[in-house]
Amino acid sequence: MNAPIPAAALADPTVEPAPDAMLTVRIRREDGFQAFTVARRPAQTILDVVTEIQREQDPTLAYRFACRVGMCGSCAMMVNGRPRWTCRTRVAAVAEEDGLTLEPLRNLPVVKDLAVDMEPFFEKWAAAHGAFEPGDAPLEDFAVVAPDSPERRAVDAGIECINCGVCYAACDVVTWNPDYLGPAALNRAWTLVNDVRDQGQAARLEAVSGDAGCQSCHTHMSCTEHCPKALAPTFAIAGLKRATARSALKRFGSRHFRRSA
Ligand code: SF4
Ligand code: SF4
Ligand code: FES
Repeated sequence: MNAPIPAAALADPTVEPAPDAMLTVRIRREDGFQAFTVARRPAQTILDVVTEIQREQDPTLAYRFACRVGMCGSCAMMVNGRPRWTCRTRVAAVAEEDGLTLEPLRNLPVVKDLAVDMEPFFEKWAAAHGAFEPGDAPLEDFAVVAPDSPERRAVDAGIECINCGVCYAACDVVTWNPDYLGPAALNRAWTLVNDVRDQGQAARLEAVSGDAGCQSCHTHMSCTEHCPKALAPTFAIAGLKRATARSALKRFGSRHFRRSA
């Protein structure tokens, strides 16, 4: 009989599994959950497990990955009900007594098995004006931005996003309101609002201030809690709320001034 996974290995990722330890993995597929059994290995990641199942047990299993080192953002899925990047998540850190349950990333349409369609996620980046806008007369030379300026620091806080979609899957507001732009797109918009070179601020602030924008965030921090890059979209969104309110007040003030002049 296969040895069970020692409780210590479940709690401490540095504990090596017994040589004959096995892991039960339930994967959500089109017709419901399918169970597989794989050997436990030292330093094994969730992505290692899925890859082993696909290569050695069922080549029809669909999933997505590219870099395997936490850079490309393509390997995210639900692991025991929580969104995670799977190439950097050790089995020993997250497996429960009865193994692993893997599902496609929440809040996105499923293509097949564990692979989701990221198009709605990236469409929202575009809707939030998540691309740098150089304006009609971009600088010919490099812009000088002081590394310790408040704007540069605000950009630094959000720039390392890898577009993994983990925060998007963690956000209940996206579930309730599929039009909501979501934490990643709004985090991106905030980095650009703080980019002193960008010339598209007015349109960007307008894009993120509607019903589907930053004001819809309930600040329950789930995105920030789950982001594997330790970014804080919640705080970026709070910055956008302040910036959009200031911009609205400015517009109201100038209209009022024109009328009363
Ligand atoms: S903000 Fe974090 S969780 Fe969200 S897409 Fe970027 S890296 Fe992933
Ligand atoms: S803080 Fe806002 S964006 Fe983040 S999970 Fe909560 S509602 Fe979604
Ligand atoms: S495979 Fe690239 S981040 Fe996981």
